[in-house]
Amino acid sequence: MPKRLAINLCKVRLALLLNKFQMTQTFIVNPGGKLHGTLRVPGDKSISHRAIMLGALSTHGTTHVNGFLEGEDTLATLAAFQAMGVSIERAYQGEVTIHGVGLHGLQAPSAPLYLGNSGTSMRLLSGLMAGQAFSVEMGGDASLSRRPMRRVTEPLSTMGAWIETTEKGMPPLKVHGGQRLQGINYTLPVASAQVESCLLLAGLYAEGTTCVTAPAPTRDHTERMLAGFGYPVQREGLRVCLQGGGKLQANSIEVPADISSAAFFMVGASIAQSADVLLEHVGINPTRMGVINILRQMGADISLHNQRKVGFEPVADIRVCASQLHGIDIPKEQVPLAIDEFPVLFIAAACAAGETVLTGAQELRVKESDRIQVMAEGLRALGIDAQPTPDGMIIQGGQIRGGVVNSHGDHRVAMAFTIAALRANDTITIEDCANVATSFPNFVELAQAVGIDIRL
Ligand code: S3P
Repeated sequence: MPKRLAINLCKVRLALLLNKFQMTQTFIVNPGGKLHGTLRVPGDKSISHRAIMLGALSTHGTTHVNGFLEGEDTLATLAAFQAMGVSIERAYQGEVTIHGVGLHGLQAPSAPLYLGNSGTSMRLLSGLMAGQAFSVEMGGDASLSRRPMRRVTEPLSTMGAWIETTEKGMPPLKVHGGQRLQGINYTLPVASAQVESCLLLAGLYAEGTTCVTAPAPTRDHTERMLAGFGYPVQREGLRVCLQGGGKLQANSIEVPADISSAAFFMVGASIAQSADVLLEHVGINPTRMGVINILRQMGADISLHNQRKVGFEPVADIRVCASQLHGIDIPKEQVPLAIDEFPVLFIAAACAAGETVLTGAQELRVKESDRIQVMAEGLRALGIDAQPTPDGMIIQGGQIRGGVVNSHGDHRVAMAFTIAALRANDTITIEDCANVATSFPNFVELAQAVGIDIRL
């Protein structure tokens, strides 16, 4: 690793350490609670990231965003573009105005970009930065610094990009500017929207056509938003293509509530006695619907109301009532459509009658934590028979006990174990919860408001 990159990495790690030292957070959740009420969870994380990116790269225009997720991850993306000279104003909660600078209007940042916990920021920005005239360094927290980046750097280097990683192919990254990119025809080894989006964004700067083929459907927010910004994108089945050299037209964006955040309350309302919850204005893009499909197959009582299209995305109000869940073999094709929801789906499985088997989900091992290992350890600490496998888990439904679990700094693990308390017979203490702020900053307040007995 070059010396300057190593020094910058040390600075980033020091900042992280100080930050974590000040911010260690524990959730204490008392057992029981009846989930009732209407709530709107914060804006979709994936769409919020992309709104900043495409808004910033639009030619001569202002993009107004409503419902933007003011979480640490998306704010890291926002700060990165401000550091590259883009004027971005935040007004009321979730209202953001971005003054586009065009595809070639970004400026070199004066310091490395710090992207915190956010894999989406780092992977999507890798593609965008590969096409710039200037060089950029990007780093993140301890979790992000352990996440695999070769999945983006390898295809990007085939396009002509020059990106340095650590020896293990992890952050920090140094993206060298001034390279000529060529379109490629790339087949993804794993279904990953981050890699697909990264390559499409690099493709904006490439000569010729960039085509990406996924082994299975993944979230398609990038191509929907590109099309919404007037950039032609062609899709044929699992293959998506675009031509470099076009322009993005500024547009307004309404970000729906994040189905991945709503998922905690969907499972909560399914497992809590006589629960009845209405989740408003939730994004129901078919490429994100896995959690609903899986829960329904387990016997959940979920109904969609007032279905409508808002901007580029379908939206609905989702009502969830208590039900008796039963274990299932989770269909493999649902895995990429529910990839972020497995921590809380494991809680659903722990409360279901019989056995639930997940396979084909090895990607969970390289998320913000190793979600197979960390969730299995936590479930076992709470008395549930959970057997981790290389690519999934086998869970026998049973009585959740009280106890202490560690989220390993993983936001979705922390929130999943909070939901488990609804069916526990004693208090659950969850350690290392500060990162909940990356995706769901008002989780504790909303959980309290609908009947969960949680305190910090
Ligand atoms: C995301 C894609 C998913 C998901 C992540 C957000 C995105 O990752 O887990 O939280 O916004 O594109 P993969 O593409 O790596 O599966």
